Amino acid sequence: MIERIHRTGRALFGALRRPMARAFESAENPLNHIGAMTVFFLWIVLISGIWLLIFFRTSVSGAFESVEYLTREQWYLGGIMRSLHRYASDAAIVTIFLHIVKEFVFNRYRNNRWFTWATGVPLVWIIFVLGITGYWLVWDELALYVAISSAELIDSIPIFTDSMAGNFLSDDLLSNRFFTLMAFLHLIGLPIFLVFGIWLHVFRLTGPRINPPRRMMAATLLALLVLSAVYPAISHEQADLAMTPRVLRLDWFYLHVYPLIQLWSPGWVWALLVGVSSIIVIAPWAPPQKKERAAVVTLDYCNGCERCVDDCPFGAVEMVARTDGTNYSHQASVDPDLCVSCGLCVGACPTATPFRTRGALVPGIDLPDSSAANLRESIITAGQNKSSPHVIVFGCRDDRQLKDLDAAGISYVKVNCMGQLPPSFVDFALSRGHADGVLLLGCQDGNCSYRFGAGWTEQRMARLRDPMIRSRVDTSRIALGWHAPWSDNESAVKKHEAFKRALER
Ligand code: HEM
Ligand code: SF4
Ligand code: SF4
Repeated sequence: MIERIHRTGRALFGALRRPMARAFESAENPLNHIGAMTVFFLWIVLISGIWLLIFFRTSVSGAFESVEYLTREQWYLGGIMRSLHRYASDAAIVTIFLHIVKEFVFNRYRNNRWFTWATGVPLVWIIFVLGITGYWLVWDELALYVAISSAELIDSIPIFTDSMAGNFLSDDLLSNRFFTLMAFLHLIGLPIFLVFGIWLHVFRLTGPRINPPRRMMAATLLALLVLSAVYPAISHEQADLAMTPRVLRLDWFYLHVYPLIQLWSPGWVWALLVGVSSIIVIAPWAPPQKKERAAVVTLDYCNGCERCVDDCPFGAVEMVARTDGTNYSHQASVDPDLCVSCGLCVGACPTATPFRTRGALVPGIDLPDSSAANLRESIITAGQNKSSPHVIVFGCRDDRQLKDLDAAGISYVKVNCMGQLPPSFVDFALSRGHADGVLLLGCQDGNCSYRFGAGWTEQRMARLRDPMIRSRVDTSRIALGWHAPWSDNESAVKKHEAFKRALER
């Protein structure tokens, strides 16, 4: 069932991606930077919000006028800032939604990855409450609607004794203190929680990408500026507690739940919100999945070089004081609760070399369920296919294009992630005559199931990152075939044929 939802989601992403892929290079495709785009939108919200704060008056009587002043008198700056503030907030909701769907359908939330997933849920709540309190502060008819509906929602929680909705019965009851409390929440309290929440969300990840490429930021900002100039955000009529608001232009990004409060009842709306949030939080364990065993360090072969620490995308390896009395000062140590068994550390380890002649192939760090020794055996087996020129394809296990290779009778070697493949294994395949060429098929940067697999592989093959492919290897016999995991543009079989033709030439 879950697998079917993942497949459908991937197909939908594919449909969305195709036109984007035509317009953008992979490195600049916004779909490859959705989390970072959300952070960027929040930066715009923060900076424009600071400008609004300078002119905003936190009193019932002054709020509406100060926002009107910004919108009408100071339209060239305050008005633009207000519109930017609104549109960037709306855009953040779109990117958060896409971000959740993408991480879900590409299965990046299971088992030991639960923490980043679960800490995303409070972020969504904070952002919604921020948006809602923001609408409240304008103190126009929409604000009144939001205030009364929110009060109904909060009053339905049995722990409150005083009715909050009572504040909105008349002008005399609506106190500046209450209004200042909303302003404090929106301007200071919630933003602090949001910053802390984002830090917590990415805290377990090594090198989280929180900034999209510069050109993408510039183009997005420009688009928002144009939208703000052409279609500026404006207020409704000033709130009047004696009047029922007439026509409301709801912001459906933030306020889509509000009509339900009237249609259903506050209790059912709470049930919906809490229910959906709970389902998302427990998703990593629904249903429970068999966990692969974590990476294991073998001290006899660990020289304390730290490359595994640098390359692990999930902060699962650390260097600790040596325990075996050898001359090395440090040794690698894996936290099994953080390790997702991607194998990128094996790809980084200088002792993971298939050329070893004495003893078994045991690197400093290895995956018990898909070891470096097995990888060497698979290369030797794949090398027995003597088509000419013979290409060994390496493919990531999550790559659905492997099925196409199977169907076309092309043999391949499966790795957990391309980053698991140490460059010395490519050297081994070529120099020991197991292959005339090596094709590495994997998900492009920004879509890698294990975050850095494509990036590290490219750098290792380009001799920019340790461990590098040795200088004796003719790199024209190595082809990198990155694609999006949902892509159907150039199939693996075609890439294989094209590479064979290139080798023949
Ligand atoms: C304010 C809202 C959010 C922001 C700014 C945000 C931002 C980010 C960033 C910057 C990353 C790191 C990307 C990378 O370097 O690979 C990330 C990863 C991730 N986020 Fe979010 N996120 C938000 C909300 C959410 C929500 C609501 C969920 C899910 C419920 C979620 C789930 C994830 C997951 C699963 C990962 C990847 C973890 C992994 O690769 O193991 N995020 N997010
Ligand atoms: S990369 Fe290998 S040798 Fe280096 S610290 Fe990690 S396990 Fe030890
Ligand atoms: S397999 Fe290695 S790189 Fe991957 S999470 Fe575990 S320790 Fe980190």
